[in-house]
Amino acid sequence: MGIGEGGSGIGLKRTAGTGNDKIKKRIPRNALALWNLGFKNITTLLHDGRVTKSNIFGNGFNTPAQEALPKGLDNIVAVQALFPLTRQFEMAGNPGENEIIGLVSKVGKDSMRIDRVWPVITHRIRGIPEYVELFKNAFDDINSPLDINITHIVNSIAAFEIHEWTSFDSPFDEYLNGDKQALTLEQIKGMNLFYGKANCSSCHSGSLLSDQKFYSIGIPQFGPGRTRPFDPYARDVGRMVETDNIKDMYKFKTPSLRNVTLTAPYGHNGAYPTLKSIIQHHLNPIKMNKNWKTEYANLPKAPWLEKIDFVILSDKREQDRILSSIDIKPIELNDKEIDQLVSFLVSLTGRSENQRPLGKPDKVPSGLSID
Ligand code: HEC
Repeated sequence: MGIGEGGSGIGLKRTAGTGNDKIKKRIPRNALALWNLGFKNITTLLHDGRVTKSNIFGNGFNTPAQEALPKGLDNIVAVQALFPLTRQFEMAGNPGENEIIGLVSKVGKDSMRIDRVWPVITHRIRGIPEYVELFKNAFDDINSPLDINITHIVNSIAAFEIHEWTSFDSPFDEYLNGDKQALTLEQIKGMNLFYGKANCSSCHSGSLLSDQKFYSIGIPQFGPGRTRPFDPYARDVGRMVETDNIKDMYKFKTPSLRNVTLTAPYGHNGAYPTLKSIIQHHLNPIKMNKNWKTEYANLPKAPWLEKIDFVILSDKREQDRILSSIDIKPIELNDKEIDQLVSFLVSLTGRSENQRPLGKPDKVPSGLSID
């Protein structure tokens, strides 16, 4: 479960911050992996599919911006990049702290004008000469600072994400391409379980090992949740937050399993620290949910949030609702078979995962510090 605006440091060393700037809330869901987002068949992004290809608003995408989505976006990855900028706990900051969050705050009764943020961000970029030069070089339609708009900004972020994190050189790929030596015997046994008796491929299918659909698998809940307007307490109803359809309650998107060894912790909120434990959860969700221990979450310390961190676990009725919604049936596998499945998942790790094309820059044109 991530730490957003107000925290400091990166990765596992990130802390919840101090003084007035410290975080006011945890980010309710685990940050998503960025691998292979350029795959052309991706139709939906984020745990609840909040950004999805669709023509419901006449602009190609169903997103929180509805019909206010800017024109000219290259792909779904560029669309997604528009939103973290506008969100209080991810990047925008707390009310009173800066102009961005002031713009997002409610203007009418219920309306959140997230589209008001984009021109302000664009204005900041236009004012940094080094960025203007880079944008002029990258886009034919930019000759002066005023030509830059938010579409160029998110299109370039998306181009970077896709260029930097495309990975399809795993032993599993080599095996599929005909190199039968690429997988160990243990991994082949795991693969046969995955596509056979363990039934994993009924959801984790296709090139990304995800059917891009939504299921309830009863991952233990904790943290602030993603509440809907009438929720009296912290909870996360998953896909239903987006669709308002009760049939979607507690459903989350089947994640891609490519490079899954690099993306712990597991589940939409990071409830399980290891591959073995998340697999055990799938095999017997009710038992694993009931035996789950708060230490597994390994939450970064924030004593002022402790009261709500695990409050949901003591709500018996909510727990019953979660456990009665589960879409998978228990499957019995022995310990050896579970280890074989883990070995197979290890074989989905790209061989060049440590050599990214560009890597982390030493500095950026805005002068903002790079932790
Ligand atoms: C009914 C569909 C379904 C089946 C069958 C299924 N999974 Fe999953 N899997 C999911 C969903 C949905 C999630 C995400 C749940 C969440 O975040 O709340 C998930 C999460 C995972 C994760 C965590 C990935 C991450 O990045 O957090 C792993 C690993 C995983 N599954 C492996 C398996 C294996 C191995 C099997 C077979 C034993 C399996 N799954 C069977 C739907 C399924």
